[in-house]
Amino acid sequence: MGATLDKLDSKLDSKLDSKAARQSIETDLLLGTADLPIRQAVLKPFVQPEVVRLEIAPRETRSEVSEQSRMLDELRHRHDLECPHCTSARTHTQTVFGEGNPNADIFFVGEAPGETEDRVGRPFVGRAGQKLDEMIRSIGLRREDCYIANVLKSRPPENRIPLPIEIQRCGPYLEQQLLIVNPKVIVTLGGPATKLLLKVETGITKLRGIWAEWAPQAQSQRASIALMPTYHPAYLLRNYTLQTRQEVWSDLKAVAQFLAQSTSQSV
Ligand code: URA
Repeated sequence: MGATLDKLDSKLDSKLDSKAARQSIETDLLLGTADLPIRQAVLKPFVQPEVVRLEIAPRETRSEVSEQSRMLDELRHRHDLECPHCTSARTHTQTVFGEGNPNADIFFVGEAPGETEDRVGRPFVGRAGQKLDEMIRSIGLRREDCYIANVLKSRPPENRIPLPIEIQRCGPYLEQQLLIVNPKVIVTLGGPATKLLLKVETGITKLRGIWAEWAPQAQSQRASIALMPTYHPAYLLRNYTLQTRQEVWSDLKAVAQFLAQSTSQSV
């Protein structure tokens, strides 16, 4: 038995050499659970953290969903024709409009495409994207259940923070995407998305974890949508402490509970 454990230990040691592998294992086991040392966590059988498994009830009929899909395609086309902020983001290779279920209950908003997203043409497919996928799985959802988009639709040069003028020009396309998908909840990932949608200048560390509402433009006469700000997965990766992971997990749990409640109320 001792020998078997030793073998397993050395296997794990080599696996844990890679920072990404270690973070992934830690996230699986630790997002929201107690402070388990890595070795102990890995040797323990995997126990799914207590999360509400979400059954997403179809909200719209098939024809309404295909209409949402058509409207998103049209918006993408319009964006790519007008592409207003691209004058200041010239180094990108293509635009990254967003993707997912056109009728999603949950809409994640990031900042701007990075290098991988610019190459692939899809949002959140690099390292931060893998972390976002884990965050989504941690609340019992699949990536394809959600809609995922960014404030900016093209990669800023050298991945710099979006300029206010770029946000001002590109932000309205995000707002249109939100109106078309009309989710039950928006999760903003990081400062730029949160500031844009809440029209505030407060930093994400003060806003995260506090329920807010995104109010569409007055003339649209649409009800506001619940919004949960949380850290950007890239920030989480850069500050991979137990505290930041627990904070993100607590935000995600609140979102899962909100969705579970609103689903049970609508059946
Ligand atoms: N970071 C973002 O904000 N969006 C992406 O799509 C990828 C990384």
